[in-house]
Amino acid sequence: PFLYPSSTLPFLSASLGFALLAFLLTLTLVPALGGAFLLADLKGRDLLKRATHYIPESIGLIAASVYIALLILFIPFPFSNFLQNDEKKKLVEGLARADFPHQQLSVYLAAILSLLIATLLGFLDDVFDIRWRHKLPIPIIASVPLLMVYFAEGGNTRVIVPKPLRFVLGNAVDLGVLYYVYMSLLSTFCTNSINILAGINGLEATQALIIAISVALNDSLYLPWRFNLTVGESTHVGGVYAAGMSYGSRELMERHLLSLYFMLPLIGVCSGFLYHNWYPARVFPGDTLCYFTGMAFAVVGILGHFSKTLLLFFIPQIFNFLLSCPQIFGIIPCPRHRVPRLDEKASSTLLYPSRVQFVEPPSRLATVILKVFSSLRLTDLCYDDETGRIKSATNFTLPNVILVIAGPMKEPHITIAVAVIQIAGSCLAFSIRYGLSGLFYDG
Ligand code: UD1
Ligand code: MG
Repeated sequence: PFLYPSSTLPFLSASLGFALLAFLLTLTLVPALGGAFLLADLKGRDLLKRATHYIPESIGLIAASVYIALLILFIPFPFSNFLQNDEKKKLVEGLARADFPHQQLSVYLAAILSLLIATLLGFLDDVFDIRWRHKLPIPIIASVPLLMVYFAEGGNTRVIVPKPLRFVLGNAVDLGVLYYVYMSLLSTFCTNSINILAGINGLEATQALIIAISVALNDSLYLPWRFNLTVGESTHVGGVYAAGMSYGSRELMERHLLSLYFMLPLIGVCSGFLYHNWYPARVFPGDTLCYFTGMAFAVVGILGHFSKTLLLFFIPQIFNFLLSCPQIFGIIPCPRHRVPRLDEKASSTLLYPSRVQFVEPPSRLATVILKVFSSLRLTDLCYDDETGRIKSATNFTLPNVILVIAGPMKEPHITIAVAVIQIAGSCLAFSIRYGLSGLFYDG
C-alpha cells in the first residue's frame, strides 16, 4: 500500500503550485496593467479619501483572467493517468475510451463556463452600470451548466429534516425541482452579496479570501490524511482511493478535492490582489472581482454538493443582505452609494455612518422597519425637532452598523472589523456543521 502523499499529492501539489503562481502573477500583473485600465477610462474616485485623483477600477478582471487561465491549464493534471503511455495507447486503440471520466471533465468545463459568464457580467456591469433587475437573472443563467452536471451526476434533491421537525415532515423531504431553483438562486446570492458588502479599501478581497480559506479548510477535512492509500485499478480521476473507504466516502473525497483545486488558486489571486487593494488602495476590484469570486463559491458549493455548508460561510453576507433588503426592494430609499462617509468639516480620517435623507416622510411600513431596526441598534435615526418626523437614518449595511455601535473608525479598521466578523462566522459555521448538527441530525 502507498501512503496518501504518493498517490494524490501530485495533483494537490500541482494545485498548490498553481496557487502560488496565481499569487505571483496577480501581484506583478496588477501594477503592470493598472495604467492601461486608466487609459481605457476604467477608473473610479476613492469615496473615502480627500484626494481627488482617479484609481484604476475593475482590476478584478486581471485577477479573474489569471484565475481562469490557470484553471484551464490545470485541467490535464487530474486526468494525467489517461495521458500516460499505455493508457494513451489504449485510448488510441479505442479500447479504453469508455473508461475516460467524461463526467469529471464536464464538471470542470461547466465550472469554467460559469466563471467566464460571471466575469463577463461583472465586467459589463463595471463598464455599463447594469440595472439591478437586469443583472439579477444573469447568474441564474450562468448556473444552468452547473445544474445539468449536478443532475447528470444523480445529484441529491432530498434534504434531511432536523430531528425536532421529523414528527411532521418525516426523515427527509424531496425538494425535486425546488432544489434546483434553490441552487440557481445560490449563484445569484453568492455573486451579489459580496458586491453589496463593498466600497471600503480591501473589503471585497478580504471577504473572498476568508471564505476561500474556510472552504479549503473544510475540504481538507475530507482528505484521507489518516488513511493508508493504495493506487488501485479504479478509473476515477486521480486513480486514488483510500483502503477501507467505502465508495460513498471516496466520492465525497473526490468532490472536496475538486473544490480544493478551485479554492487554492482563488486564495492565491485574492491575496495577490489584496496586496494592492489594501488601505490606501492603489486599485479597485470593480464588480468583476465580486462576481467571479462569488461564482467560484457557488460552483464549488453546487458541484461539491455542500451548498448548505457553503452558506454557513456567508453568515456576514447573509446578515448584510437581509439588512439591505428594505433599501434594495425600495421600501426605504437607496442612495447610489451607501458606504460610510468622511466628516467633511473635520480633518481627521475617521469614518462615520452614511445617512439616507427622507425628503418625503417615510411610509408607515418604512417607519415600522426604521423603529424596529433602531431599537436593535442597526440604524441611528434623526428626528425633526419641530414635527417629530424621522428626518434621516443611517444606511442599512454591516459597515454602517459597526460604526453605529462602535463609533467612528478609520477605514482599514472597518475592513479588519468585518474580517474578524467573517472569521468568527466561519468558526461558528464549523461548530454548527460538525458540533451542533448532532443535535438536529443523526451522526
Ligand atoms: C455597491 C453598493 C453601494 C456601494 C458600492 C461601493 C448596494 C446596493 N450597492 O454598489 O452602496 O457604495 O457597492 O462599492 O449596496 N469605491 C471606493 N473604495 C473602495 C471600493 C470602491 O471608494 O475600496 C468606490 C469607487 O468610487 C468605485 C465605486 O465604489 O468607483 C464602485 O462602486 P460600484 O461597484 O459601481 O457600486 P455598486 O456595486 O453598484
Ligand atoms: Mg460593486
